[in-house]
Amino acid sequence: MSRGNFSSKIGFIAAAAGSAVGLGNIWKFPFEVGKGGGAAFVLMYLIFCFILCFPVMVTEIAIGRKTQKNPYGAYPILGFGKWRGLGLLGVFSGVLILSFYNVVAGWAFGYFYEIGIKGNFGIGNSFGDYVADWKTVGAFGIIFMGLTAFIVSRGVSGGIEKASKILMPVLISIILFLIIYSWTLPGSTEGIKFYLIPDFSKINLEVIHTALAHAFFSLSLGMGALITYGSYVSKKDNILSSAAFITVADVGIAFLAGLMMFPFVFSQGIDTNGGAGLIFMTLPGVFGSLGPLVGRLIGGLFFLLLSFAALTSTVSLLEVPVAYVVDELKIKRKSASWWVALVIFLVGIPSLLGNGAVRFFSSFITYGGKESPTDFMTFIADIALESFLPLGGLLTVLFVAFVWKKENLSEEIAIGNPNYKGSFLEKFLHFNILVTCPIILALLLILTVLSKFLGIHLV
Ligand code: PHE
Repeated sequence: MSRGNFSSKIGFIAAAAGSAVGLGNIWKFPFEVGKGGGAAFVLMYLIFCFILCFPVMVTEIAIGRKTQKNPYGAYPILGFGKWRGLGLLGVFSGVLILSFYNVVAGWAFGYFYEIGIKGNFGIGNSFGDYVADWKTVGAFGIIFMGLTAFIVSRGVSGGIEKASKILMPVLISIILFLIIYSWTLPGSTEGIKFYLIPDFSKINLEVIHTALAHAFFSLSLGMGALITYGSYVSKKDNILSSAAFITVADVGIAFLAGLMMFPFVFSQGIDTNGGAGLIFMTLPGVFGSLGPLVGRLIGGLFFLLLSFAALTSTVSLLEVPVAYVVDELKIKRKSASWWVALVIFLVGIPSLLGNGAVRFFSSFITYGGKESPTDFMTFIADIALESFLPLGGLLTVLFVAFVWKKENLSEEIAIGNPNYKGSFLEKFLHFNILVTCPIILALLLILTVLSKFLGIHLV
């Protein structure tokens, strides 16, 4: 049975950049920048993308292309059977992350309908009620998961690649349009200054920790999403330049999202510390102040943009467990896609209900020294996104260092890139994968366990 392939290098780059660019860039990045004190956070994020994420990304793509397998099947080919566990961790992380990511994607899609179609600008003030309305949000979640399954079921080049090649340019065009528009608003210069001029006194361990965790999540690393996409890449392609493009696209779009958001936020005098609700609570009012017609157009475009960005990411999150089921259980892609999507949707139901609809899931569990209980969705995010991704990343670099060996990694990278061996880049990558990445990822994991689960904050 043929597993499918990306039809071209650009197709792979569009799909992998589509995976990386998601809610992480347009929803999470601006509010993390807002909480983390602006430009200082942006700078830390850029540094980590370069020294940590780029080497890990190259490694994941190389493992995928070498083995032509999903993460569960890939590790044992290069090492031995026990490493399956690491692949399984990746598949499991994909299931958990998609289960709640889809809920947030449903909010974005629902907002597109409320603002773009209905012109309901008051929705920002009733964000809490909106996310508690599980029937409406659930319906948008079903549509979203359905779209995701539809794309994945159509296969690698006919579904994932094709959708990404259309959605990515649309997304970039909408962002550019909104940036130019946001700059025409009064007060926008203050927003740009907050975003671009670093205040180094704001850098502390917590800011470093968030920037680090965010960079890793934003580049879709640590769960084998890029092992899976890498397994569909042609041997002719240059992995290094592809990874460089993907990293630059992700960083570039996060950067542009900030350039668009902060002028909007400052022009309305909104608190930058607004957290997860920053976009959902504050932007509808911004759009409303533009008048009913322009507001609908710009606001509708914005939430459509957010939905598109989320869609190319949910596709990659679904692809990891689907590739596992297709490769290992020999089930046809079409039925695998729909069944896995259904299971993940069911796993996400407590997250859907945990935003006010059902008290049990909304105040689910108390941990990490917090006084009040955490909701189900945050709990799962703390486990899968904050802990499993760095753990998966750490084990992957250790796997390369001690099991697969750096020479074999070089061998794979050199295919499609004849000048690689002996180059400065090879030394840079080896040093990072063997020294810098394990240290940084181990520290990240320790900081996460201390701050999220044990309530110990070393600032
Ligand atoms: N990188 C995506 C985002 O920024 C999320 C993601 C994480 C997708 C891990 C796939 C794997 O939203």
